[in-house]
Formats: sequence, C-alpha cells, structure tokens
Amino acid sequence: MDKEKIIALLNEDLEGEHGAIIQYLTNAYAMGEGEMACEIEAIAREEMRHLDWLAETIVGLGGIPSLKRGTMRVEGKTVADWMQNGVLLEEDAMGPYRQHVKAIDDPGIKRLLQRILSDEESHHGDFKHFVEKAKREGMLDIRGSRSDKTVETLNWGIEHEYTVILQYLFQSYMTTNPEAKKQLEDQAINEMQHLGWLAEKLIDISSSPRIEHTGVDQSTRTADMLRADIKTEKEVADAYDRAAKETDDPKLKELFLRLRDHEIYHTEVFSDILKEEEK
Ligand SMILES: [Fe+2]
Ligand SMILES: [Fe+2]
Ligand SMILES: [Fe+2]
Repeated sequence: MDKEKIIALLNEDLEGEHGAIIQYLTNAYAMGEGEMACEIEAIAREEMRHLDWLAETIVGLGGIPSLKRGTMRVEGKTVADWMQNGVLLEEDAMGPYRQHVKAIDDPGIKRLLQRILSDEESHHGDFKHFVEKAKREGMLDIRGSRSDKTVETLNWGIEHEYTVILQYLFQSYMTTNPEAKKQLEDQAINEMQHLGWLAEKLIDISSSPRIEHTGVDQSTRTADMLRADIKTEKEVADAYDRAAKETDDPKLKELFLRLRDHEIYHTEVFSDILKEEEK
C-alpha cells in the first residue's frame, strides 16, 4: 500500500477519535459529577491518546492530520440512550480498525492500530456495562435550558477553547521547533482544562454546553503559527477580563480571572518562543 493511502486511512481513524472525544465529553458533562462521568472522561482521555498517536504517525509519513470531526451519535434523551450510543460508536471504530490492521503492511503501524483496537474493545465492554448501570439507577440528563448573557459568554469561551485545543495540537504536530512543540502540547492540555471548567459551570447554572469550534489557523511556519496564537491569546485574555468585570457573581468572576491569567501566561510563553524563532 502506498503512503498516501495509509495516510488517508489513518486520517479516517483520527476523525473517528475526534468525534468520540467530543461525544463522550458531552455525555460526561450532561450526567453530572459521579463515578460513571469520571470513567467516561477517562475513556475520552484514552481517545485523546489515540488521536495523538495517529496524528504523529501521519506526520511521520509526510501527511497532514485532518481537523475534521467524525460522526457523533447524539440521539436519545436518557443516560442509558447515550451509553448505547457509546456501544455503537465503539463498534463504528472497531470495524475500520480491524480492516486497517489487515490492509496496512508496515509492522509498526499495524502494531499501533492493533493496540488502539484492543482499547476500543475494552471501551465497548465498558459502555455495555454503563447502559445497564444507567438503566438500573435511572440516570437522567441534568442539563438545564437557561439562556442569557452569561450562558452566551460561557459558550463563547468553550468555542474559543475548543478552537485553540485543535489549533495548538495541529501546530504541535506540524512544527519542527522542539520547544514550540512541547509548549503547544502543554498549552493545549491547559486549554482542555479550561473547556472542562466552562462546561461544568454551564451545567452548574442550569444550562447546557455547546461544544463547537471556529476556524483553526493552519500556518505551516512556526513563526506564523506563534504570531496567530499570540494574537488569539491577547484577544481572549481581554474578553475574559471584560467578562469578569461584567459579572456580579463572585464564583464566575473568579473563574474568568483565572482563565484570563492563564491566557496571559500563554501569550508570554508563545512570545518568548517567537523571539527565539526570529533570531
Ligand atoms: Fe473507544
Ligand atoms: Fe484557554
Ligand atoms: Fe490560551
């Protein structure tokens, strides 16, 4: 099989992982704190590792990791329905992984896909078990339908965080500067934390997180990447600062200020690397 074909197959797998991550996070947030939500978040983290391995392999083959999100299964109103969606989504993944393991000759890539497949088989069993548990306990959707300026601001934050997570991960795969790679990975993880805080806050105030993203900067030169990131970080630090000033809720204020301070930190980290890169 030629390289282009392998890259295309791995990108299909990567898009599937992206869809799974967002489906599972959406479910975990919507069922509230508890043992099952934690276990589902842990599964989402395993899918993130898969995404990372696939992206690195694609770049190693000279390809570009896809930013597309694979199909998510979002039907159903109860936690048991969502867990059944998880069973089906894992089956959606297992089929192609089995085919790709067979079709690809490269022993390293075969081994990687086999490894991922065994995780998916394990997740499949987990979700089957969660369906039963959710039924037994009559677990419900705890999201509310509040909709106002605060909800809009928090969802705007999620949109921003999701976008930069994708952007920094993409850039970390594409850059040839090892310090930039390390920092982009670290900050992507920090932005994942931000997304989680914002989503949990929306649940707390009886609303519902909307996990969508906007355009991702796809510069291929490290200096261009960093310039785009610094611009975004400055804008978002200002936006969180404004949001903190506009709210009277002390908890919300604290959240926005903490986010703002992290974004200022990101601006500084990226600015330092850009200075080095421009030397
Ligand atoms: Fe999985
Ligand atoms: Fe952030
Ligand atoms: Fe940031």
